[in-house]
Amino acid sequence: MSRVAYVNGRYLPLAQASVSILDRAFVFGDGVYEVCLVRGGALIDELRHFARLKTSLAALRIAAPVGEAALKRILREVVARNRVSDGLVYLQISRGAARRDHGFPPPGVAPGLVVTAKSLDPRLGEANAERGVAVITLPDERWAHPHIKSLQLLPNVLAKQAAREAGAFEAWFFDSDGFVTEGSSTNAWIVAADGVLATRQADQSILRGVTRATLIDVAAVEGLRFEERPFTLEEAYAAREAFLSSATTIATPVVAIDGRPIGDGRPGPTTLALRRKFAAVAARS
Ligand code: PDD
Repeated sequence: MSRVAYVNGRYLPLAQASVSILDRAFVFGDGVYEVCLVRGGALIDELRHFARLKTSLAALRIAAPVGEAALKRILREVVARNRVSDGLVYLQISRGAARRDHGFPPPGVAPGLVVTAKSLDPRLGEANAERGVAVITLPDERWAHPHIKSLQLLPNVLAKQAAREAGAFEAWFFDSDGFVTEGSSTNAWIVAADGVLATRQADQSILRGVTRATLIDVAAVEGLRFEERPFTLEEAYAAREAFLSSATTIATPVVAIDGRPIGDGRPGPTTLALRRKFAAVAARS
């Protein structure tokens, strides 16, 4: 079945879906995006994704191209037209198409909106969860505002590629003090040597992951000891468990960091419990 995209007011076959070469997403990466998990045709944690989208748009002073209710309808329509039962829906908002100039375009230039959806075989995620994945680590050389979900992902792209070339699933960034910030497209977690679950506080240095927030709720429901705090690479190497989280990976065990086995080198019980309980706590729209 051919895929369908929504582009600035129209639903089009993917092959014919295009934006202007003057679109500022193309020229400057001047825009924001969201990726929302779809399970059984329903959007997962949509409210949290919308809340973050609003924050990202406000931070960059980009106007919403359509109202929230209309955007929700478009997301559902794209999911339905692509017959996505399990997969993701992607939405991207740019500052619009205008004559190239670094400063903002004149008032009246409409922001651009693109929405796509694709199916993902949930068995692939389950296989990763059963085996666990490896990560490498790299210095965090991104800009000072990774909390904005902007389209400027070049350091993330290079980090993910470095991970793949090293035979790993993900790259975790560390800051100039040796503390882990997050992954190239995931948040980073450990169950520390003392048994306490930890993930970095959601300040400006990391993306405020929607899955991260829901997993914090799961940890509370489960009565787990939990701390929002930075952890060093050394602490991660010595952790009982490590895992990463995102809309598409949920909670995926990390069994090796920089080639060093974590814990006994197998997926840990806390990670697998959080993953198992995620669906019950996440909001289905
Ligand atoms: N990535 N950190 C970064 C840098 C991310 O890009 C993402 C999401 C996350 C996890 O956020 P969430 O739980 O809301 O998915 C953390 C998406 C999936 C992507 O870029 O494809």
